[in-house]
Amino acid sequence: MKTGSKVFEARAHGRVNLIGEHTDYNGGWVLPTAIPQSTRVRLSPRSDKRVLAKSRRETAQFEIGQEKMMNSWIDYLQGATDQLIKKGHRVSGFDVEIESSVPMGSGLSSSAALEVSFLKAARDAFDLNLDDLEIARIGQRIENDFVGARVGIMDQMACSLAKEGEALFLDTVDLNYERIRLPLETAELLVINSGVAHRLAAGDGGYNQRRAECEEACRQLGVAQLRDLSMHEISRLEELPELLRKRARHVVTENERVHEAVKALRENDLEKLGRLFYASHDSMRNDYEVSIPEIDFLVKACALRAGVWGARLTGGGFGGSIVALVARGQAGEVARGVVREYFKQFGLKASVLVPQGEGDQ
Ligand code: GLA
Repeated sequence: MKTGSKVFEARAHGRVNLIGEHTDYNGGWVLPTAIPQSTRVRLSPRSDKRVLAKSRRETAQFEIGQEKMMNSWIDYLQGATDQLIKKGHRVSGFDVEIESSVPMGSGLSSSAALEVSFLKAARDAFDLNLDDLEIARIGQRIENDFVGARVGIMDQMACSLAKEGEALFLDTVDLNYERIRLPLETAELLVINSGVAHRLAAGDGGYNQRRAECEEACRQLGVAQLRDLSMHEISRLEELPELLRKRARHVVTENERVHEAVKALRENDLEKLGRLFYASHDSMRNDYEVSIPEIDFLVKACALRAGVWGARLTGGGFGGSIVALVARGQAGEVARGVVREYFKQFGLKASVLVPQGEGDQ
């Protein structure tokens, strides 16, 4: 950091999605919550156009107005300044330090946490007229237009607005949301990172391909988005070829599960919520085909342990993490057992991210 210049600091938490996967870019509903791990940005404006960025391991630089993909974490900052300028905001160069405890490739929104924490620090540093919702929208544009990942808006909304201890029940069309309290007196969340990194960026294929399949399903069904199909109309999916039918069936049933999960949370019905977790996982594995054997193993290993109501793959898939709903006080023991079995099976070290302090971070 340049001595004497003013430092603007902001932080954004990673997120774990409880249920509602691959629904956001289909106009559906999602239910993420914040995790304790976060990204912190310390930004200090400069008088020229240079950006000097420092993370724990690397330094990188670029010039405002000359942003170009470098296939590294710096692209999220480049995408941010590129978007800000395109929207008519005035930003100068800056020095920036980034520190993050959200593991990359874990399916817990490390990139959205970087985008949001950076945009919040830039908002303060350059007096930008942006609210938290607009920050989420810009974050999504960074991914869609700069990085080339056609993601929905869940992660950026969660990193910008979600809090620990409550889930953000979000309608991804109008961005209305409700905060739903989590029953942490009786239950706790367990989040385990498989250590198999997933990637959403352009070229990696699977995520963007799923999105294209959903668009094709809409085209063939004559609907604007899959949100427009309710469970009552699920028989219409018979019109589709098998692959598209499976993809669409996941989205339609997952939307229903989000609403059911919110109901279960309101009624404190944790058994039902757990069943919805398992059903969501099965749908992601069989119909959406975004799970991998390592993740399936983690979910199953959880399911076989006492005190676990439900478990599922969380995030975009093709690697990443699982989330489980566990009786209060038992997550540590479940986690240790599952991590041990996973190592025996795959020779891989899974890390327990929630609760913090259980196993390796
Ligand atoms: C990634 C994307 C989100 C969402 C999830 C799947 O996290 O960034 O927009 O589509 O995958 O639910």
